[in-house]
Formats: sequence, C-alpha cells, structure tokens
Amino acid sequence: MKLAIAGKGGVGKTTLAGILARLLAKDGYKVIAIDADPAMNLSSVLGIDQNTSSKIIPISENYDLIEERTGARPGSSGSVFSLTPTVHDIADKYGVLGPDNIKLIVMGTVKFGGSGCMCPANSLLRALLRHILVNRKDAVIMDMEAGLEHLGRGTIKGVDAILIVVEPRMQSIDTANRISRLAQDIGIDSVLAVGNKVRSEEEKNFLNDALKKMNLPIIGIIPYDEAIAKSDMLRVSPIDFDPNSQAIEAIKSIKDFLMRCYF
Ligand SMILES: Nc1ncnc2c1ncn2[C@@H]1O[C@H](COP(=O)(O)OP(=O)(O)OP(=O)(O)O)[C@@H](O)[C@H]1O
Ligand SMILES: [Mg+2]
Repeated sequence: MKLAIAGKGGVGKTTLAGILARLLAKDGYKVIAIDADPAMNLSSVLGIDQNTSSKIIPISENYDLIEERTGARPGSSGSVFSLTPTVHDIADKYGVLGPDNIKLIVMGTVKFGGSGCMCPANSLLRALLRHILVNRKDAVIMDMEAGLEHLGRGTIKGVDAILIVVEPRMQSIDTANRISRLAQDIGIDSVLAVGNKVRSEEEKNFLNDALKKMNLPIIGIIPYDEAIAKSDMLRVSPIDFDPNSQAIEAIKSIKDFLMRCYF
C-alpha cells in the first residue's frame, strides 16, 4: 500500500502520517515513511529522537548518492543524467531506522514544479516516490508539503490512495477541493478525506455536509485531542505519549479501513 497524505498547511498531515505509520508497523507491516515536506518534521511524530533527527542528511543533499544513481552531480551543468535511476534499495540503505522498525526517508527541499527545473536530484526523488518497491506486507506513507499544487504531476502518480486531511474550516475545505480535483486529474483512483481537530457535533456535521457536496468520501473523523497537543509540546510521539487517546483511537479505525481496502 502506498499512501500520500495531503491537505492545507497545519491541518494535521504530519500527525496523521506519523501515527498511521506507527500503527501499521505495530501490526507487523514493514513501513517506509517518506517525509516529502521541506519542513522535515515527520521524524519527531514518528518518535525518532532529536539527536538522530538532527544528523539526517536529506536525499536532496546527498550529492554522492544522486551522482551514483543518476550519473550526474547536482549543479554540474549540461551533464546528461538518468531519468530512471534505481531506487529499490534506498529505504534499506539510506532510510533512518525509527521505532517499530519504521524506515524514514527524508527528501529535503526539492522544487518539483510542472515546468520547473528537471535536474538529477529531482529525477532521483521522483523515481523514489513513484517506483519505490512495495511488497505484500509493506506500506509506504508519504507526508506531503501543504497544498500539493507545486508538485509535478508525475510525482505522486502510482500511489494507491491519497488521504486529504481537512479541518472544519472553509479554507481547509477549499484546499481539499483543489487537491481532490488535481488528484483525480492525475488519475489517482482513491481520493479520500479525513476530518481532523473536530471539537463538536456541529463541526462534524459541517465537515460531513461540505465533503458530501464535493463528492469526497470521508473515511474517518479525528477529534481535537489535548493529548496530541501535549505530546507536540513535549516533542514526544503522540503514540508514545498516550497510545489510547481519543485521536489515536480514531486513527486506528482509519487504519483498519485502509487495511480492509488495500491489503
Ligand atoms: N487531532 C488533533 N488534536 C490536537 N492537536 C492536533 C491534532 N492534529 C494535529 N494537531 C496539532 O496541530 C499542529 C499541526 O499539525 P501537523 O504538524 O501534523 O500539521 P501539518 O498539516 O503537517 O502542518 P504543515 O502544513 O505545517 O506541515 C501540531 O501542533 C499538532 O500537534
Ligand atoms: Mg507537516
């Protein structure tokens, strides 16, 4: 299963990606978590300590690796490079080992823009997102940068589903609408919504109604949860802070749904 997690800034993409990754790993899946957001904060939600996190070299800055795989060093002008670099071993060789044996791949800052630069680093990263091998008991969870519009169209092609995180706020719903159309345009079959930070029945109804109008199926609603907020302030993974908090229970149901659909 290959899942991309998208949504407006601050809605809870990284929180959902990190918790889902840990829950799947606890169920025995081999999980590869890909941090595709230049802000690079998936590691702390996964529960990787700060000392280890601070030493991670993002793939986009690993010039030796880029050169080895594409045949060209970033910045070397005019060089010919491979558009189909080998990526199947990257998680094992360059992933950082996290709790529950999760492998984290940090992409770093890459400009994928449709018409933007096509360079060796992009070629490698695009291949990584598109062609990373997934066996039956494997899951790839990608935490995307807010918005998604900046992504080259090819980048998330090949994911099984895209989960759009939505808060009960109009702007977040508008962004979800745009992402959903973009994803359908690219040809992604499953475009699904997850409500987050929901504080009342009223907010839940508001979200359900808005998403229904957009024909965007909602596969779960995660409540606003103080335990998530506290874990964030303590820089602890929410799942290590309180594995049975309300938000995590809601994410367990989402995980069960995904397992029924994609495994
Ligand atoms: N269900 C929840 N209850 C309480 N706080 C939450 C919940 N979900 C996320 N948060 C908090 O909201 C903030 C933003 O969450 P997160 O970083 O996961 O969002 P994001 O969409 O990845 O943001 P960005 O666009 O900056 O990458 C964090 O402080 C997180 O702890
Ligand atoms: Mg994030």
